[in-house]
Amino acid sequence: MVRSTPIRPLPVPLPDGVIVLRLRRVSDLGAIAAASYDPETRRWLDDAPMDEAARNTSMARVEEAWRSGQAAPLVIADAETDEPVGIINLQFRDDDVATIAYSVFPASRGRGIAPRAVRLLTGWALGDLGLTRLLLEADEANAASLRVAEKCQFQRISSRTKANAAGVQHTTIVFARGRS
Ligand SMILES: CC(C)(COP(=O)(O)OP(=O)(O)OC[C@H]1O[C@@H](n2cnc3c(N)ncnc32)[C@H](O)[C@@H]1OP(=O)(O)O)[C@@H](O)C(=O)NCCC(=O)NCCS
Repeated sequence: MVRSTPIRPLPVPLPDGVIVLRLRRVSDLGAIAAASYDPETRRWLDDAPMDEAARNTSMARVEEAWRSGQAAPLVIADAETDEPVGIINLQFRDDDVATIAYSVFPASRGRGIAPRAVRLLTGWALGDLGLTRLLLEADEANAASLRVAEKCQFQRISSRTKANAAGVQHTTIVFARGRS
């Protein structure tokens, strides 16, 4: 699903003093590819690991996502060093609603980075971008991600259970947050 209009790529990084959200660069791809093989990341996210072929087309796919209005993929970077510490994305459902997805690289977890990133992205999406509602989905067993949603004042609205490729049932909790 896409927006009816393209999204203007973030003109300047979004800072909060500890992290910044900024556009992805070629120099980020090594760290993003390495994290895509992390077992914890693979446990909770559907994305395939970023092999050489995916890495070579990654920047083009990111630019197409912004241009087509499908998604707004961003890097979470350390405010001091500008080094990437995670990734965060808005996946548009329509002109007014998008789903937030995120992953913090293993070495940077447990320091409140994901909540900072979600708060920054929420402010931009519900403010400058003019969305009315954001969704966030987490597996009911993904305690860390459920905490991120709660710490960012997202409210549980529903859940759905379905079998994965191996036939194992998984329940996904859906959270939402609107303009306050
Ligand atoms: C989920 C994730 C993004 C959280 O990012 P983060 O920056 O580490 O978030 P926080 O530091 O706020 O930690 C969130 C919660 O994780 C738990 N946690 C943090 N560090 C932990 C650790 N070392 N061991 C176990 N749990 C830990 C805590 O419950 C914490 O909540 P609390 O601060 O109330 O105690 C990160 O763990 C991750 O990238 N996981 C793999 C990918 C993923 O699950 N993405 C989300 C898919 S919906």
